[in-house]
Amino acid sequence: MERGQNMSEYAVSMEHITKTFPGVKALDDVQLHLRTGEVMALLGENGAGKSTLMKILSGVYTRDSGDITIFGHKVEGDLNTKQAQELGVAIIHQELNMCQHLTVANNMFLGREIVKGGRLDTAEMNRQAVEQLAKLGIHDLAPDTIVGDLPVGRQQMVEIAKALLVNAKVLVMDEPSSALSNAEIEEMFRIVKELRSQGCAIVYISHRLQELHHIVDSVTIMRDGHYITEGKFTDFTMEQIIANMVGREITNQFPRDTVERGKKVLEVRHLKAGRAVKDVSFEAYEGEVLGFSGLVGAGRTETMRAIFGADLKDGGEVILDGKSLTIHSPADAIKQGIVLAPEDRKKDGLCTKLSIRDNIALPNLDLICSQIGTVLRKKENTMIEKGKSSLTIKMSSADVEAGSLSGGNQQKVVVAKWLARNSRVVIFDEPTRGIDVAAKVEIYQIINQLKKAGIVVIIVSSELPEVMGISDRILVMCNGRITGEVDPRSTTEQEIMTYATQFGSNE
Ligand SMILES: Nc1ncnc2c1ncn2[C@@H]1O[C@H](COP(=O)(O)OP(=O)(O)OP(=O)(O)O)[C@@H](O)[C@H]1O
Ligand SMILES: [Mg+2]
Repeated sequence: MERGQNMSEYAVSMEHITKTFPGVKALDDVQLHLRTGEVMALLGENGAGKSTLMKILSGVYTRDSGDITIFGHKVEGDLNTKQAQELGVAIIHQELNMCQHLTVANNMFLGREIVKGGRLDTAEMNRQAVEQLAKLGIHDLAPDTIVGDLPVGRQQMVEIAKALLVNAKVLVMDEPSSALSNAEIEEMFRIVKELRSQGCAIVYISHRLQELHHIVDSVTIMRDGHYITEGKFTDFTMEQIIANMVGREITNQFPRDTVERGKKVLEVRHLKAGRAVKDVSFEAYEGEVLGFSGLVGAGRTETMRAIFGADLKDGGEVILDGKSLTIHSPADAIKQGIVLAPEDRKKDGLCTKLSIRDNIALPNLDLICSQIGTVLRKKENTMIEKGKSSLTIKMSSADVEAGSLSGGNQQKVVVAKWLARNSRVVIFDEPTRGIDVAAKVEIYQIINQLKKAGIVVIIVSSELPEVMGISDRILVMCNGRITGEVDPRSTTEQEIMTYATQFGSNE
């Protein structure tokens, strides 16, 4: 490839990088070449080693071997986070790293607080936070807001603002878009382009392949800890990119099996909960996947949480197989056949410090315990094997911490624990966020399997191609209400967006 014979033009070059974790060779002789003023997409399946490589570049992990050169400076020995920062490298990590109980400004200045006369200069930090957020086009976020009170999308924007506070010349964005609304993504693209025009080099990691053409100049593709190829983005077709990522061709990105619609399973009547859910009524039938579309903040997640008993209901009724349910907690919902795989897996879906085994087994103890309460290992192992093989979870053993898995594989564990149960209704909130293209197809196959088994599947998704590709019927929400119903086989993105922005006048 004619790209870059001249080493000095690179902002970053990494050669022969190797990294081993206990039981896994995460990186094996990997290379990466990033130029000044370019946005590079770093692509690969879940567990390919993208985050690991970028953690090495930003000093979070140390490499076992290999060379790193940043702006002509060859890194001798281990690189720590402070040195990486001094060399101009900033990273926005894949999993949100916000301190939930601190304010926006405190989070942005975490570890580099401004101090005056021996005290934190909160006023100054607030001022600079507002200034930084304004540069990102965010004018309506008070710096003293507690981060935990913000929706995930907003928290992500705070992370971006935080990374930009240090004068970054190389910015690594590890899946920044997965939690953002469309408007926020556009805003972020504008920022990325602005940074690029200022000469910043950007590594952009994303599983939303459809969005890449907006901002990406070059690609580097990895598979299974190996470097596969690199080049100009426009020199590849999407099929070639996918084939390089997964090592085979994927013909149908959105498989949808058609099943005859059966009897009514779930009915929700006039559900009200907090400010976000104003009045929601709908029905769901055997043999259908019901999609929920809408903008971030429309109340979809809150609706599902209220049905599931994770949030308090202020009114309304949930009827399952003709029987009105009393649900005060998720435990009530699970017992009666309704489960929810939540959107923020780190907060609600997964105990990262527990093993994969425990994550899958704990919510299902009733299924694997003997009458006297001891865990029946054989049943437990069967359950875990089932999850592992039906979802192809990439792990060295079921006994490692769930937090050590790659992002997408963590998401599979969340799904696996609910697969073990014989539920009537399975609700997925953003089930494929951060999941690679091949694993997405696997999750869709699982959704199809559930559907064929007569289970109602509800899916909340902000990715229009996804919700249109796999649902049998779509309800669109706006401002705490259902504003439209469409047939995914004949609808358009425009029609859905029209309903999604139908704000009522009776506020
Ligand atoms: N701290 C760790 N301890 C043990 N193994 C790890 C650790 N971090 C990563 N790994 C392993 O290294 C491999 C590469 O993981 P990495 O997170 O870099 O993948 P990724 O390409 O970022 O995937 P994703 O798209 O899912 O985020 C995986 O097999 C993962 O389980
Ligand atoms: Mg990753």
